[in-house]
Amino acid sequence: MSAAGLFRERYAAEPTGLWAAPGRVNLIGEHTDYNEGFVLPFALPQRTVAAVGPAPAGEWTVCSTAEEGDPVSFGTTAPGEVTGWAAYVAGVVWALQEAGFDVPGARIALDSDVPVGSGLSSSAALESSVLTALIDLGGLELPLEQRPALAQRAENVYVGAPTGIMDQSASIRCLAGRALFLDCRTYEVRQIPFDLAAEGLAILVINSNAPHQHVDGEYGARRKSCEEAARILGVPALRDVPFDGLAEALAKLDDDVMRRRVRHIVTEDQRVLDTVALLEQGRTKEVGPVLTAGHASMRDDFEITVPQVDVAVEAALSAGAYGARMTGGGFGGCVLALIDADRAPATTAAVEQAYSERGFKAPTCWIATAGEGATRL
Ligand code: GLA
Repeated sequence: MSAAGLFRERYAAEPTGLWAAPGRVNLIGEHTDYNEGFVLPFALPQRTVAAVGPAPAGEWTVCSTAEEGDPVSFGTTAPGEVTGWAAYVAGVVWALQEAGFDVPGARIALDSDVPVGSGLSSSAALESSVLTALIDLGGLELPLEQRPALAQRAENVYVGAPTGIMDQSASIRCLAGRALFLDCRTYEVRQIPFDLAAEGLAILVINSNAPHQHVDGEYGARRKSCEEAARILGVPALRDVPFDGLAEALAKLDDDVMRRRVRHIVTEDQRVLDTVALLEQGRTKEVGPVLTAGHASMRDDFEITVPQVDVAVEAALSAGAYGARMTGGGFGGCVLALIDADRAPATTAAVEQAYSERGFKAPTCWIATAGEGATRL
């Protein structure tokens, strides 16, 4: 059922409007966002649609096609009071109120085709669709570039996940046919033309369908380790360690694990810059080796991959991909491969074969194109 259909069924009324916000894949720049560095995501065509209509002041009710049972209702709450999937919605209301906005009461019905738990930012899509709807509905003055931080606050403080700003930025600020080059310190963006089909190329997304394990704890541990390293090195964030000063910085760290974490972040920031430069020069195929180097860094230095994603990367490369890497926070999720568009079936078959040989659950593969950011439909 559609979001509008669910709205009519549950609330016996017509929604005022429909708002949509997408999931994302990140072309390159992993775990760099909370180190105030660079990322290069693009929006997926898959998105969350929110059908929204008015409710009395101070009252919010939300239901979803993915959830059985009654709609969840809440008034003004503090972090932790609403739990489960509705916490993302309550968190957005809370973050807007915290920022001093008079948030309009609303009834909300949600429907999403962003795969959940696959590292494609289904939670950011949810937050961003609701945020955009409430801003429009209430006529709230909140410039686009300030919105992602608010949605991030909902996730960090209300939901309690210590994530960076990439996913909400991608969901809110991406444009169709573009990749979003974001400076996670200044929030400055550059929209990078990203029309691979015109060059006969494609990004194949391979969902490893690997069960996520200990994701939150491991993510938080990586973040802590980076922050601790920045403190030891005497810089505000690892973004401030220059690529050509890496050896010098590493020499100041005693702990081998921490050294490898730092090396991933500093080299990854450089890989984002290299990728942007190559794309802007039209040297798209040359991005491939940069992606693959990013994967090796996540596997060996940041240690956030699992066998399923490593196997997908290897199989895609053996099948002729220009480059491949895991995308997203890690410990499962998706791999992306830069391929000749006409190699999609052969690459998919190669990955499926490799998975079957190892007894892994079958992967799901599709071609991803750069969709548009959050919008009223
Ligand atoms: C998750 C987080 C992002 C980012 C990525 C890794 O998706 O939500 O903020 O840190 O992991 O790049």
